[in-house]
Amino acid sequence: MNERVVIFDTTLRDGEQSPGCSMSVAQKLRMARTLAAMGVDVIEAGFAAASPHDFDAVREVANTVDGPIICSLARCNDHDIPLAARALSSARRRRLHVFIATSPIHREHKLGMSRTEVLERAVAGVRMAREFCRDVEFSAEDAIRTEPDFLVDVMSAVIEAGATTINVPDTVGYTTPEEMGRIINHLKRHVRGIDKVVISAHCHDDLGMAVANSLAAVAAGARQVECTVNGIGERAGNCALEEVVMALRTRADLYGLDTGIDTRRLYPASRQLAAIIGGFVPANKAVVGDNAFAHEAGIHQHGMLANRETYEIMRPEDVGISRSTLVLGKHSGRHALAERVRELGFVLDDTEMEKLFVRFKDLADRKRQVFDADIEALVAGQPGDQGGPWKLLSMHTTSSLGEGQLPSAAVALEDAEGQIVREAATGDGPVDAALKAMARATGIDFELTSMRVRSVSEGEDAQGEAALQARINGNQWSGRGVDTDIVAACAQAFIEILNRASRSPDVVDSAAVAATGSPQPARAAAVN
Ligand code: KIV
Ligand code: ZN
Repeated sequence: MNERVVIFDTTLRDGEQSPGCSMSVAQKLRMARTLAAMGVDVIEAGFAAASPHDFDAVREVANTVDGPIICSLARCNDHDIPLAARALSSARRRRLHVFIATSPIHREHKLGMSRTEVLERAVAGVRMAREFCRDVEFSAEDAIRTEPDFLVDVMSAVIEAGATTINVPDTVGYTTPEEMGRIINHLKRHVRGIDKVVISAHCHDDLGMAVANSLAAVAAGARQVECTVNGIGERAGNCALEEVVMALRTRADLYGLDTGIDTRRLYPASRQLAAIIGGFVPANKAVVGDNAFAHEAGIHQHGMLANRETYEIMRPEDVGISRSTLVLGKHSGRHALAERVRELGFVLDDTEMEKLFVRFKDLADRKRQVFDADIEALVAGQPGDQGGPWKLLSMHTTSSLGEGQLPSAAVALEDAEGQIVREAATGDGPVDAALKAMARATGIDFELTSMRVRSVSEGEDAQGEAALQARINGNQWSGRGVDTDIVAACAQAFIEILNRASRSPDVVDSAAVAATGSPQPARAAAVN
């Protein structure tokens, strides 16, 4: 039996900080259940003190998700730590993750603190966290750019104060594998009590080395990796969970280490997350991209036919890509659908399964054959958990060609209080008109910055998947929609954008949204 690397998933905290990727509480819960079924060891469910929304998300995950340790981030102060502890109180297994920046640039320009003050805060934070919880992780934010002797002092002091995991974040994605290995070795040699705690790596991907740096940390003795599904996160993102897990598994000959991850859940989780945050997974993305197992060149195809291992180091089925020739249709029943959903690696409870069946029947009425990709799209984008406040009730659009004709759209939206708002607009095309009408109804100004539409499966009746991005109040938001009608898919994607933006304090504060309920206090400064 190999030694185990702890997989600490921060999709719901650091990952959610990717521009436009905020998730509703229901979406976070769904993702958390998927992560638990995948076998992650720790779920960082949020930063409870950042906003009431973050607090609720951590509390709900702690309440309902069993199996992994549930964790909340907190700054080293007496406001964040008790709040995080309260949000986690119902978790069967919980962890408090406290952090403070240690590098000279952060000390001077962000915190305005001396080395001694930072060290005292770190120790006080860990001590306070230990009053609430036995499992305490300490992160030295921007550890990589911290003076090595000071990092040793801080880590030694927090271990003495009771930290059980010490995390080494490359907050700005600056390090290289060689340097990461050196830093971990330096800590192992000089930090007092280091053999009693777990060493963790938290790498950002600004130079495209987050996975390589995490693996270098592991090779040097780290036994926890912090990562996110699809590598989402602030700026260039975090270490990608699926990549680091498959590297450890595929090169077990080099690392000799295991994870507790059921790798067949990687692909479904990747698709589910992409649907939730409203984006596509790049086709050439390692492990889970559409082309990750495609062999185009003739010489490769020839080799593959002779022996898969000539060009394939992992099998698609090992990461959960299971394509069957089985096609469902309007006569398929609940059981057949449930079976296929399970085989595709998704975890749904009875209520979700029932809702999915209704949507499946609706789709099967409009589409003769329902392929795996259609089912994936249906499961991944369960409506109703987007968190409101707006619902798109109906839409009618017209297209036109020729002089003097204007494409138009009429929409009916329902706000949080159940009031129906009707609006109409003309535009360059039906999508443009629909978006303008919806923006008018909500009173939100927007600038569409990207729009991509693709076919989910084959055939003339295939569903279209739309991924839109828009700038609202200086922030970028994403949304995704799926429908056999691509104008409707775009409208669904846009309502998701309007809802994400409406829940943001910036938009609420700007009073652009009249019907979103009480404004929320601004988030505490984001951390990556
Ligand atoms: O990148 C970072 O430094 C972080 C810490 C708060 C762990 O996300
Ligand atoms: Zn981070």
